[in-house]
Amino acid sequence: MANQAKLTTAGKEFEYPILKGSVGPDVIDIRKLYGQTGQFTFDPGFTSTAACESALTYIDGDEGVLLHRGYPIGQLAEQSSFMEVCYLLLNGELPSGDELETFSTTITRHTMLHEQLATFYRGFRRDAHPMAIMCGVVGALSAFYHDSTDIADPEHRKISSHRLIAKMPTIAAMAYKYSVGQPFLYPDNKLSYTGNFLRMTFGVPAEEYEVIPAVEKAMDRIFILHADHEQNASTSTVRLAGSSGANPFACIAAGIACLWGPAHGGANEAALNMLKEIGTPDKIPHYIERAKDKNDPFRLMGFGHRVYKNYDPRATVMQSTVREVFEALKVDDPLFETALRLEEIALNDPYFVEKKLFPNVDFYSGIILSAIGFPTTMFTVLFALARTVGWVAQWNEMISDPGQKIGRPRQLYTGPTQRDYVAIDKR
Ligand code: CMC
Repeated sequence: MANQAKLTTAGKEFEYPILKGSVGPDVIDIRKLYGQTGQFTFDPGFTSTAACESALTYIDGDEGVLLHRGYPIGQLAEQSSFMEVCYLLLNGELPSGDELETFSTTITRHTMLHEQLATFYRGFRRDAHPMAIMCGVVGALSAFYHDSTDIADPEHRKISSHRLIAKMPTIAAMAYKYSVGQPFLYPDNKLSYTGNFLRMTFGVPAEEYEVIPAVEKAMDRIFILHADHEQNASTSTVRLAGSSGANPFACIAAGIACLWGPAHGGANEAALNMLKEIGTPDKIPHYIERAKDKNDPFRLMGFGHRVYKNYDPRATVMQSTVREVFEALKVDDPLFETALRLEEIALNDPYFVEKKLFPNVDFYSGIILSAIGFPTTMFTVLFALARTVGWVAQWNEMISDPGQKIGRPRQLYTGPTQRDYVAIDKR
């Protein structure tokens, strides 16, 4: 049969079904492999492993395509809003006008935090990294919202998902306020999701905060660009944590912890720090040489991707958004010139060409966020805020799947074989 893969091992031939998705590579269904052959597959880093079935997001890394529920990211970034993308990811279809209004109102009404949570912030040092605060505070939500933690109940899952999406901007803004020693601001229901976040971050109680529409639009677009990205490391972490039946807030806290790493969400912070270190375009060749040197741990941050072997479509939108924000705020940042030049030099260098290393979403985002006024330590927090919808949508999809099992990878054991314990005086 054509839709079977043959495997010859241990002197026998086995057949495994080939499954087809709606688009993208077929997968060989090896779920019976161990039972039949007594052997595992070996794929550290999951470079050839589809860990789940999903109908949320599709990436064609060779073509630089990213679709959410079938819609291209470029169209969503240009024509949609973050609230609409959240609805789309959670429900599978774009909302009608009424559905969007009801959804936005629901999210708005969940933006406040339990008052007691403010005391958690006060336990952190003022110089704590806001991602450390996010991990702690989001994990602590598990101790607050007991009325919706039956993960087998779809209504409970929906309420938890709405709470997480709604409260994340409040949590993120409070992390920032705490670090600069300013009072926390309560959400303002008159504002949009993104406008409210900007006000809670940059507003002060003594003055009326005016949301600049162009900045609100750019920020909303940045949220759209980060909303979901298939089975990346933090999403897989959320799925793995959730597969044991863990509390949803604890699962998202696990996702935040994973996102923090510089190879993942932490790359936006690292990319801007790198651009600052490079400084002027004349220093670029030195850093390009360092990035190519196998004995030097330096890498071009914001460059390369496990899946994209072409320009990351999110980076394209990000690059054009830099110019819009500069124009709206009447600012300029010489680091943008350095970034453009660095991209140009790298894309013409055989090392980067052969390895198919292109700018990713994080390469230009830091320049925009910095122009808006965020310190670098907040960059990954913004990523976490926006990715929360992807995490909860993926978590919900997994829990809704009747065939869902606890995630339990196996290993190739290379340690000592069984041996007898030796008393301490005999060693
Ligand atoms: N600078 C220099 N060389 C690189 C880079 C880079 N940024 N990225 C990959 N390479 C080289 C790497 O040294 C390796 O070379 P060789 O084959 O000779 O050993 C080859 O390219 C393949 O790299 P890899 O590390 O095996 O690839 P991976 O798929 O495991 O890693 C990555 C992907 C994103 C972790 C990596 O490209 C990287 O570290 N990039 C910088 C960090 C970054 O920008 N991360 C953000 C990713 S996008 C946002 C997100 O999804 O979180």
